[in-house]
Amino acid sequence: MAQQEDVFKKIVSHCKEYGFVFPSSDIYDGLGAVYDYGQNGVELKNNIKQYWWQSMVLLHENIVGIDAAIFMHPTTWKASGHVDAFNDPLIDNRDSKKRYRADVLIEDQLAKYDEKIQKEVDKAAKRFGDSFDEAQFRATNARVLENQQKRDALHERFSKALNDNNLEELRQIILDEEIVCPISGTRNWTEVRQFNLMFKTEVGSTAEGASTIYLRPETAQGIFVNYLNVQKTGRMKLPFGIAQIGKAFRNEIVARQFIFRMREFEQMEMQFFVKPGTELEWFSKWKQTRMAWHQALGFGAENYRFHDHDKLAHYANAATDIEFHMPFGFKEVEGIHSRTNFDLSQHAKYSGKKIEYFDPETNESYTPFVIETSIGVDRMFLSVMCHSYTEEQLPNGESRVVLKLPAALAPVKLAVFPLTKKDGLPEKAQEIIKDLRFHFNCKYEEKDQIGKRYRRMDAIGCPYCVTVDLQTLEDNTVTLRDRDTMEQHRVNIADLRSIIEDKVSITSLLKKIE
Ligand code: GAP
Repeated sequence: MAQQEDVFKKIVSHCKEYGFVFPSSDIYDGLGAVYDYGQNGVELKNNIKQYWWQSMVLLHENIVGIDAAIFMHPTTWKASGHVDAFNDPLIDNRDSKKRYRADVLIEDQLAKYDEKIQKEVDKAAKRFGDSFDEAQFRATNARVLENQQKRDALHERFSKALNDNNLEELRQIILDEEIVCPISGTRNWTEVRQFNLMFKTEVGSTAEGASTIYLRPETAQGIFVNYLNVQKTGRMKLPFGIAQIGKAFRNEIVARQFIFRMREFEQMEMQFFVKPGTELEWFSKWKQTRMAWHQALGFGAENYRFHDHDKLAHYANAATDIEFHMPFGFKEVEGIHSRTNFDLSQHAKYSGKKIEYFDPETNESYTPFVIETSIGVDRMFLSVMCHSYTEEQLPNGESRVVLKLPAALAPVKLAVFPLTKKDGLPEKAQEIIKDLRFHFNCKYEEKDQIGKRYRRMDAIGCPYCVTVDLQTLEDNTVTLRDRDTMEQHRVNIADLRSIIEDKVSITSLLKKIE
């Protein structure tokens, strides 16, 4: 675990050192849980967004996109339930004066039981070697059984407290489990209180004329309030979807794990409107579709899992998360929810407008049901970074840090180096870039020895490097070096585009999930 934490720290510093992610307002020492994306980060982020957008809007004839405003009529948030219920249970430690989410403290405790069990399993696996039967060991080992029993009991109690919205019980669990504040080490806890996560501001210039509005805490409501506009103007027939990418804002109490939990972040959400009664079928279809989207990146199926919700919102009839194996455990990257007709009905009620669909096949009108897929761009970015960051020992005794990014997501696709700064080599290298920059992102580098330039490109995940040397001037060939294998071979400049373009395009990913 400690080793994993070290790796995570290295990833965070790597993100800063190589222009991926900076703390916001860095010269003023940053702002809690707010980050800026640098010159490489923004390219990677744009590629992730493009992959998502194209998989939704290009690959589905019945999905269209919108871009709604961040500010919305305040009644939106009353109707959606966010004003009354978008809360987190918070608890303070009186000694350290630190604030925590009560549910997160308990989830961490559950994870501790899991770790203890896993440790026993790993130890036994080492001891017994090939003859180890994990299922039998888990079912019979006394220590594993004891911890599993404690974990299950805690899980049941926790789920019930969450479902009942029982804040006193949440506090009692923290006391009974003897959970201590990581800073002060004490159990001097306050009561648990609810805390609304929406940021407020005012529109209007005078105090009397001003009214409170919110920074949207999710992009989804921008889609719901535009359902009628899009359905009518696009003459959309059920089932159909509306996709959107945009910023969302939450005043998170516990801001930690870098860009995993931010106060300003970006979501990619798609609401899929379906005929009532067909929603669970569509829910299951979207679960598979979204998992395939993740797995096409090649990070290994074992690093993903579904986590079905213990606490279903009162309007949902199914909900699951897609979790990814981060260095700090399996964590939610995407949520898939079957939200019934709750949102559209609420907006119909609060706006007084009829929000329905006339079904030409059955000649009836009804409020569509909704399947939502909702993924955080920043969490996706983090999962890509965590999986790609690799420290390698090389056969010559040296080591390198390489970001093994999927080529289609890499910020820079091709780096072109002149071997030296003379004999017309820089000019020849620039010529190559001038030709190829229309097709993918290229970078020119002439400073330092070739080895150092390779390392810098490895560190930003650039899949291909080309070196221009004296032979190039004679026969128009260059050495092409592959980031992962570090193998080099000579190719014709005229063939570079066809060798590289296909591998680095988003289309290559889309073809895997078609
Ligand atoms: N419209 C549904 C919705 O917003 P959510 O589970 O609250 O559902 C969806 O959020 C996704 O947004 C999450 O799976 C996560 O990837 C991302 N997300 C939520 N809160 C976040 C935060 N504070 N920082 C970064 N990403 C966040």
